[in-house]
Amino acid sequence: MQRKQILVTGGAGYIGSHTIVTLLEEGYEPIVLDDFRNANPAVIKKLQKLTKKEIPFFNFSCCDFDKLIQLFKKYSFSGVIHFAADKAVGESVVNPLKYFDNNITGLISLLKVIEKYPNTNLVFSSSCTVYGNPTSYPVTESFPVGFNSPYGFTKLCNEQMLMQFHTALQSTKICSLRYFNPIGAHESGLIGEEPIGAPNNLVPFITQTAAGWREQLTVFGNDYNTPDGSCLRDYIHVMDLAEAHVSALKYLEKRKEGCNAIFNIGTGIPTSVLELIKVFEQETGKTLNWKFGPRRAGDVPAIYANVEKSLKELHWKAKRSVNEAVLSAWNFQKHSLITNPSIK
Ligand code: WQD
Repeated sequence: MQRKQILVTGGAGYIGSHTIVTLLEEGYEPIVLDDFRNANPAVIKKLQKLTKKEIPFFNFSCCDFDKLIQLFKKYSFSGVIHFAADKAVGESVVNPLKYFDNNITGLISLLKVIEKYPNTNLVFSSSCTVYGNPTSYPVTESFPVGFNSPYGFTKLCNEQMLMQFHTALQSTKICSLRYFNPIGAHESGLIGEEPIGAPNNLVPFITQTAAGWREQLTVFGNDYNTPDGSCLRDYIHVMDLAEAHVSALKYLEKRKEGCNAIFNIGTGIPTSVLELIKVFEQETGKTLNWKFGPRRAGDVPAIYANVEKSLKELHWKAKRSVNEAVLSAWNFQKHSLITNPSIK
């Protein structure tokens, strides 16, 4: 039977690469588009080694409409998963135009193509960042939305664009996934979170500190109004997140009419920074070198998901624990040490 072809923009990135593995396991034929601004080109070879499959990939930006429409003429995509975007909250504050240009222009270019190929299902990579600073938890999809950074603004703007695009073209089938905090790596240790330069995110900073690549972890703030004073987040294993994308594709394939649906993709379980450090030390037997520091601008004290809607409508639920996720991140780090002992 002809395998359904799926365009995966940003497919060489952290979440994109893990989703490629799951798409192949589920019988899809993924085609990767990536400009490698936030991804290591070596990931493609690692994916081919891991999956033992040829994975076609193209190296250009989604913003390039002329090239993008050529891809749709070459393949018969049944769906697109749109990951391609810049995603560092802190960087977006100092360089908002880079975020407006890539994250908004990229989606405009893709929607201009989908306008000509309206039967293409679209799964969009959104973020819990659109909830801004919630005053109660867990958050449901109907909570008020806002933004705390130019990055968050672009994700909210993207969601609004999708809503209005669907209103104009009611036959289109669209699903936005609001990720909480993706962590961890594929069990092989071959692919994982590989930030370029010093990590912004907590878990890669923890594993790089434990590996001796970083001197010490700073915990940003211990005076939040939370049980132990450090921020609460909803950390989800990246493989659970990858599986959520396939569930979203299947959800769209089953629908008879058009739709524009939004789902929280988290575990529903809050974990504090201090608890995560404790989990890392318990699971790895390593003692982490850390200290408290001042709060980081833009951090919200707490956010975690109500995941009832995803379970009810996507028939998806996170299966892996935060312990498994942290251990898989450490396994990837150790694998990187073996293959790239000197990179920092
Ligand atoms: C988590 C907690 C920090 C680093 C990220 C993405 C965002 C969205 C959700 C995709 C916070 C603390 C961190 C460090 C620390 N994902 N921390 N020391 O900010 O919740 O958001 O995931 O859209 O785009 O940025 O994740 O891992 O940066 O921080 O104490 O060295 O860890 O203060 O409380 P965040 P994070």
